Amino acid sequence: MSRRRLLGTAGAAGATGLVLGAAGGATGYAATRDEAPAALTSVGSTEVMFHGKHQPGITTPLQARGHLIAFDLAPGAGRKEAAALMRRWSATAERLMTGEPVTGGSADGTGHDTGIALDAGPSSLTVTFGFGATFFERTGLKGHRPPGLDPLPPFSADHLDAGRSNGDLWVQIGADDALVAFHALRAVQKEAAATATVRWQMDGFNRTPGATAKPMTARNLMGQIDGTGNPKPDDSDFDKRLFVAAGAGDAAYDWLAGGSYAVVRRIRMLLDDWEKLPVERQERVIGRRKADGAPLSGGTETTEMDLDRAGPDGKLLIPDNAHARISSPERNSGAAMLRRPFSYHDGIASDGGPDAGLLFICWQADPLRGFVPVQRKLDRGDALSPFLRHEASGLFAVPGGAAQGEYVGQRLLES
Ligand code: HEM
Repeated sequence: MSRRRLLGTAGAAGATGLVLGAAGGATGYAATRDEAPAALTSVGSTEVMFHGKHQPGITTPLQARGHLIAFDLAPGAGRKEAAALMRRWSATAERLMTGEPVTGGSADGTGHDTGIALDAGPSSLTVTFGFGATFFERTGLKGHRPPGLDPLPPFSADHLDAGRSNGDLWVQIGADDALVAFHALRAVQKEAAATATVRWQMDGFNRTPGATAKPMTARNLMGQIDGTGNPKPDDSDFDKRLFVAAGAGDAAYDWLAGGSYAVVRRIRMLLDDWEKLPVERQERVIGRRKADGAPLSGGTETTEMDLDRAGPDGKLLIPDNAHARISSPERNSGAAMLRRPFSYHDGIASDGGPDAGLLFICWQADPLRGFVPVQRKLDRGDALSPFLRHEASGLFAVPGGAAQGEYVGQRLLES
């Protein structure tokens, strides 16, 4: 039975399974095991749509596992080869996101799926594709390179490794199951075949769904609740902030309508230093309480920060250099972005500290009105900066979602 078929029956079987599990216990389960497929849990069965106005993996809830991988086109590969690759990748992403194996005629010529994700459902898999500035030169499409891809300015806190930065093509993979995510990563790598070679790859994680009693904003490796101030889908300007509007500029950039820009920063956390700070100091660095994410000006996590409120000693409750104050839209002419990161941990670095931190990914309709002004300001006096090191950076234009029968980037590559 194909995995899709299994999923198709999982809803009904799931309900039955639940009843049997409660009433019939182990015997009930054994009696049905041979006839009916076992139900997938909600984690396994959750499916994200591949087709749509926007690509998946932008507003999709954070997944437990992530892989970021950048490729450069191989010597001799140009627009035609890039188009064929995007067509292959899109078809595979669509299949894998429904829980199907890679098709029989897999691009690496072996004709079979690796089997890594067999037995698992889609597990909220998303695969998202982006183009770096250099992609446009390599494909002869320079005239279609949008101004939003102009290189990010340098920042004083940068310790960037060029080999782990940028790239012609970028793929973000997220899933709530580690094997499902790795399966997709292998498929994407293998299908790049002779067209594109891996430039860098980074692996990340978030909290596993179901690990907390109720859905909560995620925590990062510094222990902070991280993501509270993100734009919300029901904000009236949510789409405008995140996605490039149709007809927004020169017709040469029309292909990016419904798309977005991803700024990717590998930010190492100097955890040995951070963890030496008493919790009250850590809270003043951010401007929010560690336990529940509430602003130091009072209330609960969702209470708006009162940036002017002072304590009995006359000092601001949310300090002048607190990260949440400096990065807030109020202090940045409304600049906002959707932060959708993964944590990472790659063992111990050469300095003896954990090589761990945040694969910071933020989404916006225009990096010059999102990431850039905010990072400029943070760079000048954020209380968090002494505990961070920006080690790699990428900026990618992420086309809108593919319509049925279309592949991602088709409107650019066939323009
Ligand atoms: C490892 C690095 C970073 C850590 C650990 C971190 C952590 C946090 C935390 C704990 C908050 C408060 C809760 C929340 O609103 O999400 C926050 C808010 C925020 N951060 Fe960061 N951050 C980091 C890097 C950055 C960078 C590089 C930027 C952008 C250039 C940024 C932009 C923001 C924004 C826009 C907010 C929301 C402010 C608001 O709405 O009031 N952060 N961050």
